Amino acid sequence: LNNAYSPPFYPSPWIEGLGDWDAAYKKAQAFVSQLTLLEKVNLTTGTGWQSDHCVGNTGGVPRLGFAGICNQDSPLGIRFADYVSAFPAGGTIAAAWDRGEWYLRGYQMGQEHRGKGVDVQLGPVVGPLGRNPKGGRNWEGFSPDPYLSGIAVADTVRGIQDAGVVACTKHYIMNEQEHFRQPGNFEGEFVDALSSNLDDKTLHELYLWPFADAVRAGTGAIMCSYNKVNNSQACQNSYLQNYILKGELGFQGFIMSDWDAQHSGVASTFAGLDMTMPGDTDFNSGKSFWGTNFTLSILNGTVPEWRLDDAVTRIMAAYYYVGRDTARVAVNFDSWARDTYGYSNFYGKAGYELINQHVDVRADHFRSIRRTAAMSTVLLKNTDGALPLTGSEKWTAVFGNDATENQYGPNGCPDRGCDNGTLAMGWGSGTADFPYLITPLDSIKATVTQNGGILSSVTDNYAYRQIQAEAAQASVAIVFVNADSGEGYITVDGNMGDRNNLTLWQDGETLIQNVSALCNNTIVVIHSVGPVLVNSFYDNDNITAILWAGLPGQESGNAIADILYGRHNPGGKLPFTIGSNAAEYGPDLIYEPTDGSNSPQDNFEEGVFIDYRAFDKQNVTPIYEFGHGLSYTTFSYSNIKVSKSSAGPYAPTTGQSSAAPTLGNFSTSPADYQWPSDFTYVNTFIYPYLNSTDFKTASQDPEYGVNYTWPAGATDGRPQARIAAGGAPGGNPQLWDVLYTVTATITNNGSVAGDEVVQLYVSLGGKDDPATVLRGFERLSIQPGQSATFSADITRRDVSNWDVARQNWVITAAPKTVYVGASSRKLALQASLDTSD
Ligand code: NOJ
Repeated sequence: LNNAYSPPFYPSPWIEGLGDWDAAYKKAQAFVSQLTLLEKVNLTTGTGWQSDHCVGNTGGVPRLGFAGICNQDSPLGIRFADYVSAFPAGGTIAAAWDRGEWYLRGYQMGQEHRGKGVDVQLGPVVGPLGRNPKGGRNWEGFSPDPYLSGIAVADTVRGIQDAGVVACTKHYIMNEQEHFRQPGNFEGEFVDALSSNLDDKTLHELYLWPFADAVRAGTGAIMCSYNKVNNSQACQNSYLQNYILKGELGFQGFIMSDWDAQHSGVASTFAGLDMTMPGDTDFNSGKSFWGTNFTLSILNGTVPEWRLDDAVTRIMAAYYYVGRDTARVAVNFDSWARDTYGYSNFYGKAGYELINQHVDVRADHFRSIRRTAAMSTVLLKNTDGALPLTGSEKWTAVFGNDATENQYGPNGCPDRGCDNGTLAMGWGSGTADFPYLITPLDSIKATVTQNGGILSSVTDNYAYRQIQAEAAQASVAIVFVNADSGEGYITVDGNMGDRNNLTLWQDGETLIQNVSALCNNTIVVIHSVGPVLVNSFYDNDNITAILWAGLPGQESGNAIADILYGRHNPGGKLPFTIGSNAAEYGPDLIYEPTDGSNSPQDNFEEGVFIDYRAFDKQNVTPIYEFGHGLSYTTFSYSNIKVSKSSAGPYAPTTGQSSAAPTLGNFSTSPADYQWPSDFTYVNTFIYPYLNSTDFKTASQDPEYGVNYTWPAGATDGRPQARIAAGGAPGGNPQLWDVLYTVTATITNNGSVAGDEVVQLYVSLGGKDDPATVLRGFERLSIQPGQSATFSADITRRDVSNWDVARQNWVITAAPKTVYVGASSRKLALQASLDTSD
């Protein structure tokens, strides 16, 4: 991986209407065929930072009454808007292991975006995947396991898009840490963007895997990331965008840049970028790599018309694919101000009008938010049935800053950039404003007081004297602790997005110690962005129960009280591993520049061995393993059966694409591209016009016309060879052939109904393979004394390895075993998989 290099690949594959995209493709072509060159450029280029209502907006086509595209954060709700819901975070709902809940959350988020007039929801996230638990934005995504993340992202995409909004799966790809994600100043010195360096096998078997699922599920957009991959900026990485995403994965939607992640004009056009966000080179620079420059690059013949047509067709195909032609309402909120009236162009102070209609889009989503949060809560420890509580405990004492309100209000810190009060989402762009936030103390108090109990609380973690006094009285002490992280543009308590360590915040360990020393029925609840170190307390006998509640969103308190008081039997399981020190997870993040002003080189030498795969490989016993989670009942496993299907041999995709189509003609006369005469220019807004009929003058670039050699093949619109592992959105369709169906019997042995997340792992058997990899799961609800049948399909991809030489998936000759169990380390049942033809 030293001197890592990303090979060039051109031309950029054009949309062809593969898979179920044909109808949307045809509608898009019909629309784009009517557009002028300037109108096409408008749809590809953002109008500049804070220049319109949404977090990113393209220009529109006023002549046809078509408003520009509105792109809005976030993966857990609508950022920068009122009367919206704050859903549980991705990394939290992963712990529910429930496809239906994932779909419904996506659908409800999509409904809310739709109601506000958003065209593209900027989520879900599968990059970062979560290589290292300290990565600041891991919680926006789902799980470091690619299979679990793949199912979760696909269901979320389907949910969002079924509601009539385009999902933008992000960040493509290898955006695994916040430090150095962008070129910029670090402690006063310039440092170029970090390069994530990895090999082809790791790419396919780990980081690309969930993106393939998102593409297969039809994600209309994908956001390219800030970092470099193998020393090529992600948004102009022709190998990753042209060859892998649009080629092998057959992606039919459009690639949008992360905000200022575009670093070139023509080079990124050729490398497959379709939309630049927010459109200006730097926020409010008034300049763009595209806009005017895109117009010029077509007029002077550098970029063939088909490439622009392809970009716009992809954008419009995504629009039609999700039904925005009927679902669309005008944008009725403004990201930059809460006032009812204000400037439409916030930065340019232009267009004073009604900007916030305060449309309430929440419906009754609070119900499913509460349920999903409870379903995502993981019971890590429960000694002698300490939980559930009855609600009639004589004296309940609640401890911790994490039990209560942020003193500034739930949205008191912009983009949740502080760790005050109970933690229900991380910080950064992946947030939404809470409509309200039910705290744990609110809900516990409601239950206890209804039952006539005593309730005391100390929410200052450092009020040692008061903590000890209350703990000594309590019949049950419930201690709330947390650990936060977020996006790197905000530093909280010295953590620049990424966590500096895996310990609890606000000295949670001492709080737990102080309480548990005096109360032998101490229950710990952890709100966190991911794994935290529990070494100092998990095996303390006075700590009778431990719950991981993740980042539960607006109904946090209700959800945890439902679990604590047994109104909801916990069934969540850990979507990551809890180890005993950070080093067990593998290589550390890069926190200091390693190569002067050049890109820090982040070599992903551990390959596919992250999270439980790393623990298994190093033979380290985790404290709580991936997939672990208890219930108020117990389950037993029996009767595994494997049935083999005859899917036939795997055939590589062959043949050629069509030739690149051009849609409509455009005038070659520079006079047709000048600023309209009766035009009001808005400061720093990005436009497609030329300010001179002389191209060099219009470019404002002293180096304009310097003879530059563009990459071979970049302008070639002739039919291109198809890729063997490709052929349809997601990849070769035969990768999803079902080769085996595995069933098992799961019995509820206790006296209460409960959910069990049954997990299926496969050992691929090769010497370089992880001990096991997750390849199936099902959350079953089972009545006491009853049994249920677990069933999971194993596909061709599930039992294949990426063969670097053949550039395809291959089922190796190594013997393969399937396991079914309650966690990655409780594999009660096993059977061998017959891989003979
Ligand atoms: C940068 C973040 O990386 C991205 O996730 C977000 O969508 C944009 N900013 C817009 O806020």
